[in-house]
Amino acid sequence: MKTPVRVAVTGAAGQIGYAILFRIANGDLLGKDQPVILHLLDLPVAQKALNGVIMELKDCAFPLLAGVVPSDDPNVAFKDIDIAILIGSRPRGPGMERRDLLAANAEIFKVQGKALNDFAKRTVKVLVVGNPANTNAYIAMKSAPDLPKSAFTAMLRLDHNRAVSMLAEKAGVEVADIEKVAVWGNHSPTMYADYRFAAVGGESLAAKINDETWYRETYLSAVGKRGAAIIEARGLSSAASAANAAIDHVRDWVLGTNGKWVSMGIPSDGSYGVPEDVMFGVPVVCEGGVYKRVEGLPVDEFSKGRIQHTLNELLEEREAVASLLS
Ligand code: NAI
Repeated sequence: MKTPVRVAVTGAAGQIGYAILFRIANGDLLGKDQPVILHLLDLPVAQKALNGVIMELKDCAFPLLAGVVPSDDPNVAFKDIDIAILIGSRPRGPGMERRDLLAANAEIFKVQGKALNDFAKRTVKVLVVGNPANTNAYIAMKSAPDLPKSAFTAMLRLDHNRAVSMLAEKAGVEVADIEKVAVWGNHSPTMYADYRFAAVGGESLAAKINDETWYRETYLSAVGKRGAAIIEARGLSSAASAANAAIDHVRDWVLGTNGKWVSMGIPSDGSYGVPEDVMFGVPVVCEGGVYKRVEGLPVDEFSKGRIQHTLNELLEEREAVASLLS
């Protein structure tokens, strides 16, 4: 029997929590031979609901679930963890300005970044899902100076999966056969789903679709506004697909992508004109538990404009939280 891996999930009593915990305990995150211990963090007010979720986890009798550590204290929940999936965040309340929302979340991710810094394993891998995901991940990273910056990532995978799925449908090909889709920038409607390098069996997907007007005028905004379309249709936000994307992100990071591109929000190294440390969605490949940015891709005028647009939004967010970090 392998040593259990400790996986922390915050916002564990929420919608996405309910969609992700059972899959992690079932082995979907780290493989069917890898036991896990779930560390579940939520607010004091949510502990009763969290206890109900834990009862259900027990009732599943998952062979791979080697333990559950519930807490309302990040210092307890993050002790000795290998993986952190940070979902819990402050939603926008009535009359709340964007700046207030950024500040409220900055406080949460400052505390959680420090707790990770002080209590998590030095090899911890952190995925931030809670919105504004990129800026929250940036704050957590800046609040954890003893951990490598590369430990912190933000979730662009839902955008990536949406981008791939819509291309597959348009081109009449299998999702699994599509390679080299990239989603750049912020997890927000400004992100740029780039199909310039996408291919199926070595053939350019852009050439196969042969409809640049559809790509620019329909597809890009459909990917960007997909979250809003789901809220409109379902009356609730996209929890199952967000949970699935979080699993895809962490599984690929830990187990590798076999050379396939996926999109992750990672701290910039200054490439592609993105200032250092900005948590920016880029194409990566993963191998041996490490992600590697796909480097040296050409950037045409259209892409340059789109990348700058989403970068500007992230720079504004960074500016809005700067005073809280100093
Ligand atoms: P939810 O409201 O159902 O659950 C959030 C949970 O987080 C609640 O149980 C709440 O008590 C908890 N929470 C709040 N503050 C906390 C804190 N400081 N520490 C620990 N737990 C805390 O929301 P849902 O649907 O699960 O979504 C969670 C977040 O994920 C939201 O910010 C949402 O916008 C974001 N999201 C991000 C996506 C992405 O692609 N990056 C996709 C979909 C959602």
